[in-house]
Amino acid sequence: MEKKLVIFERESESKDIILGYLNDCKIIKVDKIFDKYSDGLKYVKTNKPQIAIFSMTEDKHSCLKMIKRLTDFGVNVIAISEDYTTSNIIQTLRYGAKDFVSKPIIKKDLLSAISKCSKEEVKTLKKAQIITIYSNKGGVGKTAVATNLAVELSKLTREKVALVDLNIPIGDIATFLDLKPTLNISDIINNSNPENKNFIMDACQQYKDTELYVLAEPPYIEQTKNLNPKQIIKLFELLRNSFSYIIIDMGANIDKLNMTILDNSDIILLTTVINLPLIRNCQRCLDLFESLKYTSSKIKIIVNRYLENDEITVDDVEKTLNKSVYWKVPNNYFTVMSSINKGIPVSEINEHSNVTESFVGLASKITDELFIEDIG
Ligand SMILES: Nc1ncnc2c1ncn2[C@@H]1O[C@H](COP(=O)(O)OP(=O)(O)OP(=O)(O)O)[C@@H](O)[C@H]1O
Ligand SMILES: [Mg+2]
Repeated sequence: MEKKLVIFERESESKDIILGYLNDCKIIKVDKIFDKYSDGLKYVKTNKPQIAIFSMTEDKHSCLKMIKRLTDFGVNVIAISEDYTTSNIIQTLRYGAKDFVSKPIIKKDLLSAISKCSKEEVKTLKKAQIITIYSNKGGVGKTAVATNLAVELSKLTREKVALVDLNIPIGDIATFLDLKPTLNISDIINNSNPENKNFIMDACQQYKDTELYVLAEPPYIEQTKNLNPKQIIKLFELLRNSFSYIIIDMGANIDKLNMTILDNSDIILLTTVINLPLIRNCQRCLDLFESLKYTSSKIKIIVNRYLENDEITVDDVEKTLNKSVYWKVPNNYFTVMSSINKGIPVSEINEHSNVTESFVGLASKITDELFIEDIG
């Protein structure tokens, strides 16, 4: 059966090209063409065409929002843009576009996108990812990285993200986000019917009106004493069933429990600050991970509190560790300290600060790599 298609395009030349290409396409009928995108949105809402060709304008932000709205109305969106950088393509697909065609448009690309839109395809991560922030020394900024990365991941992907406090028994994620959770990890572990998905979601506290859910550590030390590796494995399995990304903040000790967390993580963000004793400790961790046969891509080095003019350079660090630094989070005492004191993420203190931008960049780098692997 013919599918109804609408076109959002302002440039007349491009409109003619698209219409010319669609002449030969028997499976669709061009329903309407819109210069004024807001009119197009209203039309789509009531007339429900199956496919929309959406040409992106300079106002990328509102275009992405419109693509999301169109997708919510059940339309298969083919985004068209002159900017065909990987990051733009990925971002557009994340907002729900079914396919992306670069401009100037090639006929074969457009027709193949249309035939793809005739079938149902969903682009979400196939496997939930457990991302653990680790350092074998305290105070390097694990909780700051875990919290802000989780916040940015949830904003960027709009998928469900869990932030789990396994820094037992001295976790402080709840304080970093000013939450007072009523349930915690031990409630999930001791629940007689833990498979109940609703229970997992209930035990996690939603952060404001976002896709981020926080699972707190048990408040009493006695509740943590009997936590064993088997329970951690079970907990991870349950979390994987309900979330796309699971961010773990954990303690520095190398004990059985922590080894289970590291073994069962997909990515370890080995966090350090640049000073000699900490770099040496980082080296020890890398040696340990190598002896445990962790793959090199599982371990990613994060330099926190990075200072441009530090005596020891990133180059020195990379040479010493024989591994490249994955990401640098700048030192910004004022923003980070005030975010901790107020119990809000750094983006809520200042969305344009260098640390905020760095966490946005880190979230985007991680998800872009996973996304590319996934659609590979
Ligand atoms: N990028 C940064 N710039 C400036 N200060 C930072 C940065 N990241 C963390 N800090 C500071 O470092 C201190 C420790 O941070 P955080 O509590 O996140 O570390 P941690 O590794 O989780 O510590 P612990 O081992 O106690 O759990 C905080 O007081 C915070 O203000
Ligand atoms: Mg901490």
